[in-house]
Amino acid sequence: MAMYDHNGYGFLQVLENDEKPYTDSERLVEVYKPLMAWYEAHARILPWRENPEAYAVWISEIMLQQTRVEAVKPYFERFMGALPTVQDLAVVDDDVLMKLWEGLGYYNRARNLKKAAGVIVDQHGGVVPADFEQLLELPGIGRYTAGAVASIAYGIPAPAVDGNVLRVISRLLASHDDILKDAVKKRFEKELGAVMPQDDASRYNQALIEIGALVCVPNGQPKCQECPLYSLCLARKKDLISEIPVKTPKKKRRLEDMTVLLLTYKNQIALRKREDAGLLAGLYELPNCEGHIGKDDIVNIFGLENCRVADIEKLPDQKHIFTHVEWHMDGYRIELDSPLPPEYIPADRDAMDEEYPLPTAFAKYKKLIK
Ligand code: ADE
Repeated sequence: MAMYDHNGYGFLQVLENDEKPYTDSERLVEVYKPLMAWYEAHARILPWRENPEAYAVWISEIMLQQTRVEAVKPYFERFMGALPTVQDLAVVDDDVLMKLWEGLGYYNRARNLKKAAGVIVDQHGGVVPADFEQLLELPGIGRYTAGAVASIAYGIPAPAVDGNVLRVISRLLASHDDILKDAVKKRFEKELGAVMPQDDASRYNQALIEIGALVCVPNGQPKCQECPLYSLCLARKKDLISEIPVKTPKKKRRLEDMTVLLLTYKNQIALRKREDAGLLAGLYELPNCEGHIGKDDIVNIFGLENCRVADIEKLPDQKHIFTHVEWHMDGYRIELDSPLPPEYIPADRDAMDEEYPLPTAFAKYKKLIK
């Protein structure tokens, strides 16, 4: 019997016509060797991999839940420079924290980091717990993050099943189960947990994530020809790559029309602080209101009746997409010849850059400041 050795990642005991009927768990067991050989050769050098200390792994994993690796790198370096320990994070000023997170989105994740740091300081002696269940109890830490921190930082054999891993495993097993369902995720966790190497959990989990990020890619065609699991992958064999993973269509986003002002007096730009609850809670914003209002209504709606308006200019429309909402923004530049009304926070350009965390949705107008 000829062995099929795709790309030289070691002997795989599977022929193209699959002479041996594998169970799911046998197939998963076969993954280990070629996966790790590939990882040795292709793992990216990443700042949080150089020294996978638990605090650094935790911060990186939270950042990576919403953003690509390349975009996370500078945020991670800056965050670790400003808040190098759990203790620093536990007492950081909220605005400083938001400023460090500005542009990453999902600001509650940053708030939860601070809350969890408080718990770690108060209840765990300032040390990120080396225990899956204890990690899971911390604010903002779900099963994936608990598994990632436990395994990557402490070598604990807990699975870490994120979207990358779900894609890889569902293709490998040609599973048509909906990977957005919690029950499916839990089943994959269980199956991986049963076969994962007890003494190589850190590399194993990172390798599964990495192959999902680099080969079995999230958008576009996977690079099957480069994949060390080519011969094992049932979806590839059955020509189901375009059908798997299965994800139920998401609910449509709510569309919200808004009008946003770039309201200035001399070198001052008007800002407001957002409410402490809801979308982008506690961050700063450019003055805005619901709906697309006409030029004539701006003065009344934004309380500028007692101001001298030197100039009003229409700015380009902008769109910003959140997970559940889409903002469709009309914009106006308004230059005043008299001071800003007291309900606005006057910020010059440096203060905007250094002090006031402004969500990305408004950055499109911030760029147009003269
Ligand atoms: N995406 C999520 N977690 C990751 C990790 N630890 N390494 C690379 N990409 C990731």
